Amino acid sequence: MERPVRLAILASGSGSNTASIMRYFADEENVEVAFVGCNRPPERAGIYERTRALGLETTRFTKSDLVEGRLLETLQNAHIDWVILAGFLMHMPPAFVQAFTGRMLNIHPALLPKFGGQGMYGMHVHEAVIAAGEKESGMTVHWVTEAYDEGGIVFQASCEVNLDDTPQDLANRVMQLEHTYYPRTIAACIESVNA
Ligand code: GRF
Repeated sequence: MERPVRLAILASGSGSNTASIMRYFADEENVEVAFVGCNRPPERAGIYERTRALGLETTRFTKSDLVEGRLLETLQNAHIDWVILAGFLMHMPPAFVQAFTGRMLNIHPALLPKFGGQGMYGMHVHEAVIAAGEKESGMTVHWVTEAYDEGGIVFQASCEVNLDDTPQDLANRVMQLEHTYYPRTIAACIESVNA
């Protein structure tokens, strides 16, 4: 029997998407979350506690681990097949992107190509959507390429933007979509590449 597909998740923050992905694949025989990495220390990122509660320790790494190739080496030594970015705020070095081309996904909390690119992360995205008077927003899953948020779009789900929404209201609504659709989109991508 073939071994399960091994995922690494990289994140920078609270890790709620990471937890939803871990829960989704927990009972799945063909895919396993084998590594979770975070570039922030435990006192600045809730992800450590979340993954520990699900039975996996988050590994901390530094910017230089990423830039100088040590993180890539760690993932290759751990036989990681796919890299899933889930609220990861660092730019991926070209060598890293090349190593996982076609096997690396990211999630963005808006309907790309609108409200993407440098500086468009976290609450800035939702503030910009509301300021622009948009009637809908949502989430986008896309392939990772060397340019921010410009890889091919794999999946989008949308929600309403209400007139009285605060950025936090909108963030909560988009986050629901992320938790629902990111894990199953990852599963569908793996299935189609491995078919
Ligand atoms: C999500 O909204 C994701 O789209 C964005 O950063 C947020 C991460 O949240 N890129 P969490 O750490 O998964 O809770």
